[in-house]
Amino acid sequence: MAIKRVTLGLELLPGEGPGGDHYLGELSQVLPQLPERASLCYLDPPFSTGKEFGAYSDRWEGMQAYLAFLHESLELAARALREDGNLFLHVDHRAGAYARLHLDQILGEVCFRNEIIWAYNSGGRSKRHFSRKHDTILYYALSKDSHFDPMAVALPRTEHRHNHMRRQVDEQGRAYRSIRSGGREYRYYDDDPVPPSDVWTDIAHLQQKDPERCGYPTQKPLKLLRRIVRCASKPDELVLDGFAGSGTSYLAASLEGRRFVGCDNGYEALCAVRGRLLGRSARLHVEHAPALPEDFLPAMAVGAEGFCVENARFFSLGRWSDGAYVHLRWPDRGKRAIPERLDEGFDQETNAVFCQTPEGQGVFLL
Ligand SMILES: C[S@@+](CC[C@H](N)C(=O)[O-])C[C@H]1O[C@@H](n2cnc3c(N)ncnc32)[C@H](O)[C@@H]1O
Repeated sequence: MAIKRVTLGLELLPGEGPGGDHYLGELSQVLPQLPERASLCYLDPPFSTGKEFGAYSDRWEGMQAYLAFLHESLELAARALREDGNLFLHVDHRAGAYARLHLDQILGEVCFRNEIIWAYNSGGRSKRHFSRKHDTILYYALSKDSHFDPMAVALPRTEHRHNHMRRQVDEQGRAYRSIRSGGREYRYYDDDPVPPSDVWTDIAHLQQKDPERCGYPTQKPLKLLRRIVRCASKPDELVLDGFAGSGTSYLAASLEGRRFVGCDNGYEALCAVRGRLLGRSARLHVEHAPALPEDFLPAMAVGAEGFCVENARFFSLGRWSDGAYVHLRWPDRGKRAIPERLDEGFDQETNAVFCQTPEGQGVFLL
C-alpha cells in the first residue's frame, strides 16, 4: 500500500449546519488571528477551582495570577467581537464579583445587561454554609443596537411559578390568571410564551449518567448554550468560544443555524470537539498548536486504502477512504486506546492494530 506522510494541519468534518472552525491553541494566540469578528462570544473559562481536571489544570498561583489571565482573555475576546456584539461570561462564586468589575472596565459599565443566575440541583450539601448550587453568567451588549431577542427563547407561562392570582378560564376555554389595577384587568394566559427572567431554574446540571455527557469534565448543558445562542445572535452569524472544552457552544450554534469559531489549548478538548461535531460541518485546525508533546501525533500516514496513525495517544484521527470515521476510545486515562468501528486484530508484539477496510488494509500503530 502506498503511504504518504502528511503533517496534521486541518481536518474537515463533513456534515450539516453552516459550519465552523475549531483551533487547538491558546486563546491569546488564536483570537487575534481570526479573520472575521463574531456577533456573539460565550466564554466559559477555568473557574479558579484549584482542581486538576485531567483534561486541563485549574490551578493558579493565587487569585491575582488568575485575574490577570481572565482580564487578558476578556480583552482579546472583546476585540474579536463586532461593535454590536454580545458577550456572555460564565463564572461561579469564586470569580463572579471580580469578573463583573473587569468587564465593566474593559467594555464600560453601560454595556452590562444581566447577571444571569443558572441555578441547578446537584448532589452534596455543605454543613458550613448554604450549598453553592448556581453559576453566574454575565451578559454584556457592546452597543445599544446589539441583537437581543428574548421572545426567541420564551417559555410557556405554565413553566413559571404562579403567584396568588386566581386561575380562571375564558370563553374559548383558555386558562388565565388576572389582576385588576388602575381600573383595568390584566390577563396572563397559561399558554402565552414568556421570556425567561435572569434566574434560570429550568436547565438541569449534567448528572454523571446523563446521556448528553461526552466525558469532558466541565461540559455544560446544550440547552443552556442553545438559549444563549438563540436570543443573542441571528441565523448564519458567527458565534465565538475561546474556551471551547467539548464544544457545547459549537454544537449549539450549528444546531441553531449559526456559524462558529473558537479554540481550546487542550488536546482532549480537540478530541471531545471532534466526537461531538461528527455529522456537523466543521474544520479542525492544529496549526496554532502550542508545543506539541513529542509523542503526540503530528504525522499521519495516508494511503489509497486507509491510513495509519502513529503514537495515537490523545485522540482519533481522520477517516477511512470509505468515508467512515474511526474513533479511538479511552476507557481510562493511561490505558490503551480501543479502536471502534474496525475489523481488526491487535498484535501484542508490535503494538499495532491491523484494520481491514472494505477496500483494503490500513494499520494503526498504538
Ligand atoms: C470550563 S472548560 C469549558 C467547557 C465547555 N464550555 C464545555 O461545555 O465543554 C474551560 C476550558 O478552557 C480551556 N483553556 C484553559 N486555558 C486556556 C487558554 N489559555 N486558551 C485556550 N483554552 C484554554 C481548558 O482546556 C478547558 O477546556
